[in-house]
Order: sequence, then structure tokens, then C-alpha cells
Amino acid sequence: MGLRINDTAPDFTAETTKGTISFHDWIGDGWAVLFSHPKNFTPVCTTELGTMAGYAPEFAKRGVKIIGISVDPVESHAKWKADIKVATGFDVDYPLIGDKALEVAKLYDMLPAEAGDSSEGRTPADNATVRSVYVIGPDKKIKLVLTYPMTTGRNFDEILRAIDSMQLTAKHQVATPANWKNGEDVIITPAVSNEDAEKRFGSFETVLPYLRKTKQPGA
Ligand code: BEZ
Repeated sequence: MGLRINDTAPDFTAETTKGTISFHDWIGDGWAVLFSHPKNFTPVCTTELGTMAGYAPEFAKRGVKIIGISVDPVESHAKWKADIKVATGFDVDYPLIGDKALEVAKLYDMLPAEAGDSSEGRTPADNATVRSVYVIGPDKKIKLVLTYPMTTGRNFDEILRAIDSMQLTAKHQVATPANWKNGEDVIITPAVSNEDAEKRFGSFETVLPYLRKTKQPGA
């Protein structure tokens, strides 16, 4: 059984481009994004890590630390950063884990299923991490899991959007509708009575008895 939402994110110690880190200590009291890529010096990964570097201030603004991981060694990460800068214009200043022994990849279920006959063993491609994203809360619990295939680069706006929703809904008894963006109206959770909703949110709109909308608290 893989890791699920609300599981405690497994702790580990690993070599990174910023030295050895102990994961839970490194997260501290804030949020974190752990995201894996298949292989250094490959095209989609280059765009992804550069994009994440460009978004780093947005994650920092939300109190979210970011850390990348692949099974490439730390020295390879350090060399690849120069290419990422050329391709995207961004310096990767967040840590990258060099998970040569696949320890973290196995702990976080980041390896694809074995291809072909099991007697042939795992091929190098089977030993490359897929494109996983784990968002971890200050309580060290897993809040969100995404897994993308090798050929599909991720949408980092969506990761930020989901974090905005999770941080808001951790504070207020609201949920966010499809395609919601920060600042837009939110849904009052069914557990809140109409009387309580009025006290908490002032006015609200009843679209259906179980679908009530109100302004985003604090927006
Ligand atoms: C890429 O980043 O372009 C890539 C990496 C591994 C397999 C396929 C594509």
C-alpha cells in the first residue's frame, strides 16, 4: 500500500546539494513540497526544475519549502544546474536530493512498476523516479499526492493553487470549488449550520441546500 493523504510523511536523512538534511527537521514548522524527477540532463525535467526555481518566491511567500529528488548523484545535480539556468533563466537554489541508493524513492513509492518479466529484474528506466509531488503540512502529514508520467511536465500553478486551498481550508470551515483560484468565492462545509454560517461568514448564497457559497475569508 502506497502513502496516502493524512499518513505521516516518512522521515529520512539524505545527501543534497545543500548538504545532509534530516527531512522533518528541515521542514521545521512550515509546509513543504517534495517533488521527484526521472533523470538529470533530460528535456522535460530541465523545464520543470527551472520553472520551480522561478516559482520559488511564490512558495516562500506561502511558508512552503521546496526540495527536489532523483536517483542522480548530488555532483550531477550541481552540474545540471548550469543547463537549467541556460534553458529557463532561473538558478535552482532549493536543495536537490541525490538518492543514489533509491532509499527515499522507495520510501515514497516514487518508482514505476517493473516493466517486462520480473526474472529480468529492474531496468535502469524502472529505477528512475516518476514525477511525484508530495505536499506536507506543518504536522508532517501528507496533504496532497500527485503522480505524472515521464512525458508530461507538471503544472506548477496547480500546485500553488492547491496549496492556497489547503492553507485556507486548514484555517476556516470552507472548501474550494472546481477551478477555484485564490480570492474567489468558497463553499461552506456541510458540517456548518446556516445559523453558524451567518455568524462566521455574514452573508452567504444557498445554491442548493448542500451547496452554500460565501466570500473567501480574509480576501
Ligand atoms: C524528460 O525529462 O524529458 C524525460 C525524462 C525521462 C524520460 C522521458 C523524458
